Amino acid sequence: MTAPRLILGLESSCDDTAAAVLRVGQGGTEILSSIVLGQTDLHVAFGGVVPEIAARAHAEKLDHCVEQALDTAHIPLAAIDAIAVTAGPGLIGGVVSGVMCAKGLSAATGKPLYGVNHLAGHALTPRLTDAVPYPYLMLLVSGGHCQFLMVHGPDKFQRLGGTIDDAPGEAFDKIARLIGLSQPGGPAIEQAALAGDPRRFAFPRPLLDRAGCDMSFSGLKTAVLRTRDAVVADKGGLTETDQCDLAAGFQAAVVDVLAEKSRRALARYPDEARRTFCVAGGVAANQAIRAALQRIAEEGGAGFVAPPLELCTDNAAMIAYAAAEQMVIRPPDGFSLSARPRWPLDQSQPGMLGSGKKGAKA
Ligand code: KG4
Ligand code: ZN
Repeated sequence: MTAPRLILGLESSCDDTAAAVLRVGQGGTEILSSIVLGQTDLHVAFGGVVPEIAARAHAEKLDHCVEQALDTAHIPLAAIDAIAVTAGPGLIGGVVSGVMCAKGLSAATGKPLYGVNHLAGHALTPRLTDAVPYPYLMLLVSGGHCQFLMVHGPDKFQRLGGTIDDAPGEAFDKIARLIGLSQPGGPAIEQAALAGDPRRFAFPRPLLDRAGCDMSFSGLKTAVLRTRDAVVADKGGLTETDQCDLAAGFQAAVVDVLAEKSRRALARYPDEARRTFCVAGGVAANQAIRAALQRIAEEGGAGFVAPPLELCTDNAAMIAYAAAEQMVIRPPDGFSLSARPRWPLDQSQPGMLGSGKKGAKA
């Protein structure tokens, strides 16, 4: 890769303010720093991410976050060779904050500016962590999106299917609220499910009866809500055992749906000597989901790559890395770069109905 050596990445498309410094060279890629400043405490009282609060927090924290990333990497700003920033899709106020900050840094240093698709950052992470060769199958599963992609190149993504309504992370967050667990819901449900009985409540596995790789999670959410209401009506509240059993039953349904749809997506992977199934996005941090997907890959004769947890959830190292790959094939964006609330990775696909917790992203 004949890319500049040091790339500063910025990410602010949802509720994490992130900055990272990446060294890209002949010998490989090294993350020199990756700082993520979360905002969970700012949104907790509202039961979800409030776009205006998120945008203001990004605007307040970005400078500090960049400073921390440079300090941790022991790299002065003047030594940076290029600046990469998430330019969409996401909550527009946050994306604008990041793009404006990156433009300022680019103007001050004279270094080239690259706008990166947030989903491309997630989808290219297996190349950052494991140098997975193209093409590979990717399940991108997070709070705002859920899709199967054949990744053919840094800007070449073929969408095989995805959720027609909610994203799984959104469902994890909502179910956690419904049954009285903390936010973010994914880790809380995963923890509670460890002590629960996944067979006590029979939850649906939506769309398994329909061919293809599309998925649906909103009916599952409603089923959990009804069951919770029935238990509360019966007993006057939820015991800890009820919470754990609801969490375990819900998680088991998500695992089954993702596993079966992954099996089908893998079957559409062209028959090549080396096939790799990769997963990325916040929900890919879930150990039960990772284990099920690994089993599907093994059964399908494919390799399996799941990035470390801190690179599954939102971060700026993935944005810097996506820019590193893209700068080899395209010129920088310059100051005309605009922030995009929607930005599908596979431009040939018709627009999808439905949305994630942060609005339809892709
Ligand atoms: O990729 P990400 O950090 O942000 C988006 O781009 O959406 O994903 C955040 C989502 C949240 O919905 C969170 O509940 C979920 O990922 N998540 C998990 C786990 N850790 C985070 N879901 C299930 N199990 C987990 N361990
Ligand atoms: Zn994300």
